[in-house]
Amino acid sequence: MTPEPEATAPKIAIEDAGKYAGHTVVIRGWLYNLRESGKLLFPIFRDGTSTMQGVVSQKENPEAFGALKGLTQESSVIVTGKIQAEPRAPGGYEIHVSGAEVVQRVADSEPYPIQLKEHGVDFLLDRRHLWIRTPRQAAILRIRAECVRTARNFMDGQGYTLTDAPIFTPAACEGTTTLFEVNYIDDQKAYLTQSGQLYVEATAAALGKVYTFGPTFRAEKSKTRRHLTEFWMLEPEAAYAHLEDMIELGESLVSAIVQSVVKNRARELAALERDAGKLEKIAPPFPRIRYDEAIEMLQKAGSEVKWGDDFGSAEETLLSKEFEKPVIIHRYPSALKAFYMAADPARPELALNFDVIAPEGFGEIIGGGERESSYETLVRRIRENQLPEEAFQWYLDLRRYGSVPHAGFGLGLERTVAWICGTEHIREVIPFPRMLYRVYP
Ligand code: 4AD
Ligand code: MG
Repeated sequence: MTPEPEATAPKIAIEDAGKYAGHTVVIRGWLYNLRESGKLLFPIFRDGTSTMQGVVSQKENPEAFGALKGLTQESSVIVTGKIQAEPRAPGGYEIHVSGAEVVQRVADSEPYPIQLKEHGVDFLLDRRHLWIRTPRQAAILRIRAECVRTARNFMDGQGYTLTDAPIFTPAACEGTTTLFEVNYIDDQKAYLTQSGQLYVEATAAALGKVYTFGPTFRAEKSKTRRHLTEFWMLEPEAAYAHLEDMIELGESLVSAIVQSVVKNRARELAALERDAGKLEKIAPPFPRIRYDEAIEMLQKAGSEVKWGDDFGSAEETLLSKEFEKPVIIHRYPSALKAFYMAADPARPELALNFDVIAPEGFGEIIGGGERESSYETLVRRIRENQLPEEAFQWYLDLRRYGSVPHAGFGLGLERTVAWICGTEHIREVIPFPRMLYRVYP
């Protein structure tokens, strides 16, 4: 007996459907939507890679018609059918369904909660485990993955070695006000890391050029569209490196990430209605201004900010409007910055640091600079900042034993992805956002 074409049909991903025009294939996925019109059904299937419209005729395929008629949204289903070019269908192809097997039918009594209409964001966040199935959310998560892949490849290609920093730590890196305290074994106190920096300073002294890339935690009480309590950071660190080296590394890294998304994720950017033209312009060098100049620009633009103030999102947005590319702001007042920052020898009241502010008001994506390498100065700064000296003894060893000038930075992954995707809020660019008042689901 010759096998039915069905039995040998290839199992394909919807995103590859164009390669199978005229062929019978199998798609394994979920029912995204269903329109019924008399003796015809127009289901839309999704399989994680994309969505595809189908046509089912009662007359030609009564069994498939029976299986799909009245099928509930998000029921899982395996369909067989012939791929045909259809200029009016989204994606340019549709599937003429000849067979359908329902894997799990969503009960009529408990319909899928997310309909194809607008829902409030709290409703969606409570159902984030389902919300990620919508094509927009899936596109964002694919772009995030592209950013991570490129960032790692870029760093590896520059001769940096990945050295993972721990998540449980004995002390603060970025100040004590945003520490998450953990009850460690036998009532020892530990804290979730705010930054892997202190540890990559150690691995940089061991391996030269290193980075860590992992989750970091801040108990930020700020309920803004740019803050998460758990976010991912890529942190390079290099021995014998200075501020200028890190500025150059930062702008090349950001440009590499953006260009890889433009090249490899054009379909996802289009799904998000993101203007890729703006992203295509992102290439080194980025404009550079001193903190002093930033203050002047802000004052000219009508801001009340004074020398010595830190920039909030209002100031960052104002500054970013002046440039098409990310802008580098360097040499902030040391008083605004963390204890480990090196001072500018030309003006000791300034830190040898830099921030990178994304265009279009997406905020600070990078913070970093040169580290204080003198043992005495560092001890003084730890005391001034009232940090627990005991917990920093290992860190001070790095200044006791072969201290060298060194520098690094932290790139915030979610801020970067939010800018590239053009999403209103950073909560959409991580699979399961952790925010003030939200640790569910
Ligand atoms: O500027 P930050 O605080 O720098 C550091 O933590 C340094 N120790 C990094 C280093 O030099 N190795 O944070 C770096 C970046 C910010 O520019 C921002 O992009 C991101 O991390 N970031 C946040 N992203 C989301 N939610 C938050 N609450 C964030 N806080 C910082
Ligand atoms: Mg910062």
